Amino acid sequence: MKFGVPELEDLGEVAGKSVLVRADFNVPLRDGVISDDLRIRAALPTLNWLTERGARVTACTHLGRPKGAPDPTYSVDPVRVRLAELAPGVELLDNLRFDPGETANDPAFVDRLCRGHDLYVNDAFGASHRAHASIVGPPTELASAAGRLLAKEVEILLGIREHPSRPFVAITGGSKVSDKLGVLQALLDIADQILIGGGMCFTFFKAMGHQIGNSLCEDDQVEACAKLLDEHADRLLLPEDVVGLGPGGKIGDPSAGGDVRNFGRSLPDGWMGLDIGPGAAAAFGDVILEARTILWNGPMGVFEDTRFEAGTRAVAQTVAESRGFSVIGGGDSAAAVAQFGLASDVDHISTGGGASLELIEQGDLPGLEALRHAPNVAS
Ligand code: 3PG
Ligand code: MG
Repeated sequence: MKFGVPELEDLGEVAGKSVLVRADFNVPLRDGVISDDLRIRAALPTLNWLTERGARVTACTHLGRPKGAPDPTYSVDPVRVRLAELAPGVELLDNLRFDPGETANDPAFVDRLCRGHDLYVNDAFGASHRAHASIVGPPTELASAAGRLLAKEVEILLGIREHPSRPFVAITGGSKVSDKLGVLQALLDIADQILIGGGMCFTFFKAMGHQIGNSLCEDDQVEACAKLLDEHADRLLLPEDVVGLGPGGKIGDPSAGGDVRNFGRSLPDGWMGLDIGPGAAAAFGDVILEARTILWNGPMGVFEDTRFEAGTRAVAQTVAESRGFSVIGGGDSAAAVAQFGLASDVDHISTGGGASLELIEQGDLPGLEALRHAPNVAS
């Protein structure tokens, strides 16, 4: 038991028992085909541990965000097929979110989920920040444990939150400051340096008084950014240059034209900043190479468009080359390192985007708290 959360060994004898496993098989699908099965493979240590010991395993997951009713777009059939190949004999329930009781955490739905099962295992790290029925409900009724994936994610992420090797450098990006303010505040308590790239840097540039052309900006966050800069200027590192797309250009469509040019921190009207520049990438690289702990969440630019991938690629390369312990917080930055073929050079790629941010921010998750109160945990 770590962090007060029971693990598989704390379940006692599992042979002949029926075990409900909540997994996060919310995999990316393109035309009904799974484009990345990482989240399914990541659950195998838990599923195999249980089946090898003679347990009967029923897995369950959400997939996408259906509106509380069956919807063929979000059928788990492709997942069921892949799961049957990887973990034969493991059953999979229908998409949990086909029932409105899942997101509402309805006790009647919890009862229905638990019926016929002796034990519950939460291995859905990526969904454990949601206080949904399948995450927080079963531990009120069944002896429960964290699966291997959940336990590993928590150990690594809480480890760097609580006792990181220093210097600890956090890299944040992505489009929205509003999504990241909470985690930025938390990171300021634990990280030595925070590098800020991606669309969110333009709201900071505006707060510094720069003109940012048509770049992404959250006007209602300018004041909050100004305050952060005021109080923590020495530890927040913003790009010294950016790459912009000129009038007439279209993101993701080079054939539409539009010039691409490097700027400092100011852009003229009609121009949109879409990547950090080479100067910023080099400066960020210097900091990353000296780090002993690296936590990266959010790309540096619109890396899906090859004209604006250089910043994210450069950061991915230095993260991969760094001798520090490197962790990627799921989502788009995980997709970026995979796209650049660097995934195996990173120490840990989290399977949870929102969950890893919330764990870093709060130091806990609803799914973990629920497991601490399971009937098999002595109080
Ligand atoms: C994710 O993909 O981040 C998790 O599976 C959680 O999904 P949700 O944001 O729809 O709750
Ligand atoms: Mg490394």
